[in-house]
Amino acid sequence: MDYATTDIVRPFRTAVVPAAGLGTRFLPATKSVPKELLPVVDTPGVELVAEEAAAAGADRLVLVTAPGKQGVAAHFATDRELEHALAERGKSALLEKVRNAPGLLAVRTVLQERPLGLGHAVLQAERVLAADESSVAVLLPDDLVLPRGVLDTMARVRRRRGGSVLCAIDVPADHVGAYGIFDVEPVRDAADPNVLRVNGMVEKPAVGQAPSTYAAAGRYLLDRAIFDALRRIEPGVGGELQLTDAIALLIAEGHPVHVVVHRGIRHDIGNPAGYLRAAVDFALAREEYSAELRDWLLDRLGVDRTRQAGAA
Ligand code: UTP
Repeated sequence: MDYATTDIVRPFRTAVVPAAGLGTRFLPATKSVPKELLPVVDTPGVELVAEEAAAAGADRLVLVTAPGKQGVAAHFATDRELEHALAERGKSALLEKVRNAPGLLAVRTVLQERPLGLGHAVLQAERVLAADESSVAVLLPDDLVLPRGVLDTMARVRRRRGGSVLCAIDVPADHVGAYGIFDVEPVRDAADPNVLRVNGMVEKPAVGQAPSTYAAAGRYLLDRAIFDALRRIEPGVGGELQLTDAIALLIAEGHPVHVVVHRGIRHDIGNPAGYLRAAVDFALAREEYSAELRDWLLDRLGVDRTRQAGAA
């Protein structure tokens, strides 16, 4: 396999964040507010994944946006008037917060005219890649994967084994029906038992029929061959091009695909129930909110705090 020298040092430079979907699970809010801008406490999901990409060494973020979702890109633009107003009022902590997103990495947007699927969204990013970029990271802003660092592990796996590397979380056996589930086998000489070879993927299998309990978790390190595969697959329901179909095609053609099982937290903030859990989790981790929120939650749930304290 022939990889550019830059890849040996840094397996990817560009992180693609698809943000052109309709967000139907969040209607009516997403009629006018892009799902990717809904705040987890005070920071939009798209900023959290941009931070993750920057921490993993990406220097460029390609945002795939839709007509009417300009707000997503605007979040990464410098707002001089706002900065000036905050500076004048001596609000330095807030100033730092509003400067965070524009300062993370260079942002480029590409338009997906119609929501023709995640695969179609990723395909739009190809035209802005440099000729020597042989791989690209894709981060779904719906998925928060914590603690950070899984992209680094995925990059190490690609360096060692080539091909494409995906991320999975181990879900309870009776929850497999809600996810894309990997069909995997152990890698013979893997030092890390959380690195597995992928033979295929099943979308939302029935309980008892799933090939494993490893579910796709919104992080992909894809070989550039993915774009060619995306052009060769057939659109499915609603004319949508599925990223998983293109990955399946690559596997069928002998392209190595591995998965890194992330043994941490994954919040799916693309639906109200998962979003609420993430908000509570993030708020409990913030000094300014945690004590009061915890007390309120215990009261709201009718938990006797004196007994709790006694049991501790
Ligand atoms: P989802 O399927 O979770 O997003 O795609 P959605 O279609 O917006 O949500 P629902 O199902 O209607 O509630 C995961 C990510 O891929 C993007 C979405 O914006 C989201 O960040 N996406 C999806 C696109 O960019 N284009 C598409 O055509 C589909």
